[in-house]
This record gives sequence, C-alpha cells and structure tokens, in this order.
Amino acid sequence: MLAFMLFTASVGLLVLLIIRRFFPSSSSSSSSLSNSLAPAPAPAGNNRSALAARSGSGLEPDARPIQRLLILYGTQTGTAERFARELDDIVRKKFATSPMKLDVETVDMEQYESRAKAGELANEPFVVVACATYGDGDPTDTAMGTHNYLVKDLPDSLESGHEHEALKGVTFAVFGLGNTQYEHFNAAAKALDKGLDALGAKRLCGMGLGDDDNDIEEDFRKWHESTLMPALVDAGFAGGVDQSKPSSEAAEATLAVPRSLDIAKEDKEANLSTIVASAASFYGTASHRVDATKVVARRELYTYGAGDANARSCVHVELDASALSTANSGSSTPLYETGDHVGVFAVNDDKVVNAYLKRFQLSANSVVRLLRPADAPNALEGPHCTAPVTIQTYLSRFCDLLSFPKKGVLMTLAACCKVDAERVMLLRLSSPEGKGDYKAEIVNKQRSLLQVVTELAPSANVSPGVLLGMLPKLQPRFYSISSASSRHPKHVHITCAVVSHDTPGGRWHDGVASTFLANVNVGDRVLAFIRTSTFRLPSSAATPLLCVGPGTGVAPFRAFVQARVDADERKREELDSPRAASGAAKSMAKMSLYFGCRRLSAEHMYEGELRDAAAGGILRLEVVSSRDGATAPHRYVQDLLARPEDAAAARKALLKDGGHLYVCGDAKHMAADVHRTLVGVLSSGDDGLRDAAEAETWLASASKSGRYQRDVW
Ligand SMILES: Cc1cc2nc3c(=O)[nH]c(=O)nc-3n(C[C@H](O)[C@H](O)[C@H](O)COP(=O)(O)OP(=O)(O)OC[C@H]3O[C@@H](n4cnc5c(N)ncnc54)[C@H](O)[C@@H]3O)c2cc1C
Ligand SMILES: Cc1cc2nc3c(=O)[nH]c(=O)nc-3n(C[C@H](O)[C@H](O)[C@H](O)COP(=O)(O)O)c2cc1C
Repeated sequence: MLAFMLFTASVGLLVLLIIRRFFPSSSSSSSSLSNSLAPAPAPAGNNRSALAARSGSGLEPDARPIQRLLILYGTQTGTAERFARELDDIVRKKFATSPMKLDVETVDMEQYESRAKAGELANEPFVVVACATYGDGDPTDTAMGTHNYLVKDLPDSLESGHEHEALKGVTFAVFGLGNTQYEHFNAAAKALDKGLDALGAKRLCGMGLGDDDNDIEEDFRKWHESTLMPALVDAGFAGGVDQSKPSSEAAEATLAVPRSLDIAKEDKEANLSTIVASAASFYGTASHRVDATKVVARRELYTYGAGDANARSCVHVELDASALSTANSGSSTPLYETGDHVGVFAVNDDKVVNAYLKRFQLSANSVVRLLRPADAPNALEGPHCTAPVTIQTYLSRFCDLLSFPKKGVLMTLAACCKVDAERVMLLRLSSPEGKGDYKAEIVNKQRSLLQVVTELAPSANVSPGVLLGMLPKLQPRFYSISSASSRHPKHVHITCAVVSHDTPGGRWHDGVASTFLANVNVGDRVLAFIRTSTFRLPSSAATPLLCVGPGTGVAPFRAFVQARVDADERKREELDSPRAASGAAKSMAKMSLYFGCRRLSAEHMYEGELRDAAAGGILRLEVVSSRDGATAPHRYVQDLLARPEDAAAARKALLKDGGHLYVCGDAKHMAADVHRTLVGVLSSGDDGLRDAAEAETWLASASKSGRYQRDVW
C-alpha cells in the first residue's frame, strides 16, 4: 500500500513536471493547426551562438575558462542522434551553474569526418560518442568514414610506436546502440572504444551497451545517470545536482522531448522531385542519389496454390534505374556493381494512413508546410519533409506509422490525455519503474502509435502538430540486388519476401516496404538509391566460390551466377574456338550454392535459371527444405554443409584452392549457425585445421582479407 502511495505520489510529481514543461506559462489548450503543445524553450545556447555572443554583439566578453564537450553520433534510424541530443540538453542543464563556460557541440559523425581527418579530434578535451551497429557488426553508413579513419586509417598512417600518442590529450566515453539478437552485439561501438584507447585517448568511464531488443532508452538513461555524469563531475565538470540521487526531473528531461511542429497552410503541393530533394537529407542519404525509378516487371516467385494455408509470398521486382545513372553521369561509373544494395522508399498502405487520418481528425488534402517551432529552432527532430505536401502525402511517404512508440512519445501522449487514469498508465509505461510493463505492453505486443492511442489512451487529444512531430520518419529499406550489372546495367532486380503476420498485440502486420513492393504495378515510380556494399566477387573467375544463401539470401547469388555465366560467355567469344572454349570453361572455377527454403515445391525461387547454370557447368546447386516432410526433422543449409562429402569439398575449396566464402540472409540465427558449422567443417578431417580455435582464426583472417563475406540482416 505504502509502495503504491509512493508510486502515485511520484507519478503525480511527474505529471506536474510534464504539464509544466509542455504548458510553461498558461493552460491554453491546443486545438488549432498551428498552435499545438507549447514547445520547451530552446537549449541554453549552442556552441556557435555562444561564440557569436562573444565576438560581435557588443556584450561584455565572457572571460570564464571554457569547459568543452564534443558529442558525436552515428545513427541510421535516429536513436543515437536522439540520445546525443538529449545528452547535450542534460549536460547544459546539469552544469548550467558551472563557474566555467560550457561549450557543448553535438555533431553527426558523417559531418565530422572531414574535421576528424583534419586532426581536430586531437584538440578535443572530452568526447562522448553514441554509435549504432548494423550489417555484419559494422558502423552505420553515415558513421563509416569517421569510424574507419579512427579505427584503421589513422593508426595505419602513424609510425610504429607512436600510435598511442595521436589522441593522448583526449578523454572519451562511448555508448553503443545495438541488439543482442545479432551475433556482433554492439561491435561498432566496441571497435571504436578499443580504437580510441589504442590511439592514446583516456577512457572517461566504462562503455554503455544499449540493447534494442530490450529497453535501450532505459539502458541509456542508466548509463548517463550513473556512469557518465559522475565521471564528468570527477573530471572537473561542475555545477550540477548530486548524481547519486537521480531525480525524476532528470528522467523527465531525458524522456520528454518537445515534439510539436508548426504547421503553415499552403495552396499547392510541391512536385515529386522537390519533395524528394527536401526529404533526402533527412534520411542520412546525403552521399546517395535518390530519384524515381520505374517498375518494369513484378512477379510472384512462390507457387503456392490458392487457398493453401501455408502460403507465403516473395516478389521479384525489376526497376529501371536509369534516372539514377543519368543523374550520376558525366563519368563512366556503372550504376551499380554486382553485390550492391538498393534502398527503397516505400509508401504506407492507404488503409493504415486512413486510420490515422480518421482517429486524429486530419484533413487528408490540406496542403501544409511543416516547420520546426520558431521559438525552438534546435528542437529535437525537424519535419521529415519541408516542401509543401498534403497531410496524406506526409503520412504516406514520410512517417513510420507501424513501429511501436518510444518512451518519449508515451510521455508526450500522457500530456494530451484528459483522463487521469490513462495519463498515469502512460507515465508508468515510460518511467524507469515501468520498464517491465513497457516491454510487455508496448514492445512485445508491437503496438503501433495508433493502437496505443486507441487501446490505452482514447481520451488523448492530440493536435496535428504534436502528432506529426511525434511520428518517426519512415526508413528506407535495403534489398540485395539480385541482378548482375554485367547483364542488367540499367536495371536493378529485387527479391523481396513479403512480411505479413499477426502481432502478439492482436494487430495484423503487413510489412511496409515488402507490401508496397508486392503491390507495385509496371509503370509505377519507386523512389530508390543505390547503396554500395562490400559484398564482391573475387577478381578472378578461377577462384572457387562457396555461397550459402537460404530464402531471399539467394538474391546476390543469383546475381553472382549471372556474372559468372556472362564472364564465361565473354571468354568463350574471345577465344572463339570449340577447343579453346572448353579451356575457358575449365579456367572458370565452380560456384557452390547452398539454398534452403520451407517447401521446395513452392519456394524454390529462380529454380530454372539456377538449374541451367548448373547444367552449363558453372554452378553446383545444393538445396534443402525445412518443412516438406510432415514428421521429418527440420533441415537447414548448415546440415548440408556438414555432410562429409560437402565438408571435404569445402575444405578443399577454402583451405587448398584459395576459394571465397559468402553467406547471405538472416543475421539473427542462420549466419551464426552456418558460422558454427563452418568452424566444425574446417577443423575436421585429415585435411582440416587443428581445432576449432584454429578454424576461428582462419575465418577471422579470411573475413579481414575479404575471402569470407557476409551480407546479413
Ligand atoms: C543490407 C540489407 C539487405 C537486405 N536484403 C533483402 C533482400 O534481398 N530481400 C528481402 O526480402 N529482404 C532484404 N532485407 C530486409 C528488408 O530491408 C526489409 O527489412 C524487409 O523487406 C521487411 O521490411 P518491411 O518494411 O516489409 O517490414 P516492416 O515490418 O515494416 O519493417 C521491418 C522492421 O525493420 C526495420 N527496418 C527495416 N529496414 C531497416 C533499415 N534499413 N534500417 C533500420 N531499420 C530497418 C523497420 O523499422 C521495422 O521495424 C535486407 C535488409 C538489409 C539491411
Ligand atoms: C538491419 C539491421 C541490422 C542490425 N545489425 C546489428 C548488429 O550487427 N549488431 C547489433 O548489436 N545491433 C544491430 N542492429 C540493431 C541496431 O543497432 C539498433 O536497433 C540501434 O538501436 C539502432 O540505432 P539507430 O536508430 O541510431 O540507427 C541492427 C538493426 C537492423 C535494423
């Protein structure tokens, strides 16, 4: 009872704090388009404005010594950026009364790359990095340049014995954003932490490892409250409150971010290219050319009969991407290379968009321009598109409508609730104490924002500005291009498994991009870009290939097969004689492909062309299905690889003949299972390596040299 009373009292305090934060001076409600929840005041000056105040304003210069902190972030979907900006805000508030002048700067690692390369980092006294891990334990695309420079290029460029001096005046802390479901949990952050240490920088405190499979916001809150802040205080940052007692105000500062956008009415919607241009920079695609491609083919790859209860769908889509290459022209650079990815900007399903329009009483055809609030220019997230668009377009193209809301969004919703019980419930879900409930009710049930409002907060009166400010941006989805650039220089092929399932929260979930691709028609326009990958064929066709690609993991291997068939044909043409032709065929090493699916009768995609390549001597195709027999044990690609004959062939190809090893597809289970099997395969037999440890070392070294490559997601 006492605990409940204490909880209720603390929630009451939190409610007051939130109301104070969102309605600082009056209690005016916010039903008009442009007057939504009042935004929080702008952070107390950023680096640039502080400098300006010192230099040209005529004010007395601030003579206090400067306490500088650089915060870097590497993000793909925005969480690391949000954490970095929250940290910026917290540090400014916590040390606001410092006798030193605070100079906090928060920068995207992509933007920092040239400064890092110019040697600026060495002059930074304190650096905090928040960086996410993607791919096969890699940094995000945007962080890659700075990350590689610090972890590899800079140490490589230094004279031996002097590596430890490069950053010796720097004190740093790293917070990693990852997910324990992946084999290389937080690998990018760990590599950066190690790399900075190796360059002589001093650790301010232990690294934080956020787990997005659980409660990453809570991981971050705990880390900065109980590890980072005390370390900053110990290091000389002064003027803060006692960190040993984290206050609910500190928690509130972390979670409740201003999320209201200003909305200006416009007459006419911008054309698509203006919309794309205005939006592209918000997707971290600055280095990619985003443009409209044209659908030239779409077909279903699975052959389930109508009414089959097990039926699933996987589509093959061909995009004429000439627009991307024309835009890139001026040089003879090919549009893409075999093994690259294509990024697709999907459009939300109309049913979902209409449900949002209805619940939040939005007028679909109103043309609006969304703006950061004038009095909060540094507000956390700006609009995802600044061109004039209809509300329908904004919701359809730019907003992630189906992912579950983060805790900050629940805090904002709480402030919109008219019914106390709903507000209390949302506040509990977003509080550190409610961590378990948040996981059970929001994460595990995969409740969308609409579901949360409908099921948990029907009284919430959410204005358009708040709604549009709360919705995260819709991320582009990547697909491993399943065509070879030699055969289809202007077209990219996509092999996409359609995501469609019931969620534990009782919602039928159709994956945004896969559903979009499943429904495109020939002639439709799809916004896309090419993303360069490192998944590459060896330069010599005489190198044997061992490829493992179950499900849609077969995509890049279909492209590899096309490339090898084309290379073989080119060679035959060059030699132009039957005898020489057979010699050419001999010099082409075999490609072994392990493909797996649930039911071979329905899911053996691209069977015809793969069998043709096998008949032509280019390919050895091994297939397995996991659910064909009603009672048979499930069998997977790794079971094929472990068969004695296959294991012996793999050892010969890899250990004796200098072959390359490729794995593509599911990162969470398959890639790790295949890796384990390979360790066993390579360390068995008379011709194998001594033991598992030696096999692991061999694979690590093959991975470094590019002989073992994984394209996993
Ligand atoms: C490098 C790479 C290559 C891929 N190749 C293929 C392929 O060849 N064939 C195939 O079928 N699938 C591929 N995928 C998976 C594909 O990108 C989509 O995740 C899949 O189609 C489901 O998307 P959806 O929108 O339909 O599902 P949804 O359920 O709407 O989205 C899936 C979830 O993943 C998140 N998500 C998806 N993509 C990203 C991203 N890039 N960054 C951050 N979060 C993301 C979404 O936010 C959402 O939570 C690949 C993924 C990657 C990263
Ligand atoms: C396609 C994909 C690949 C990922 N790969 C990894 C990984 O290899 N290791 C890891 O720890 N986390 C991985 N993650 C989890 C992200 O790092 C995590 O969700 C993080 O919070 C994202 O941060 P961001 O929003 O700043 O991009 C992956 C997530 C996705 C969607």
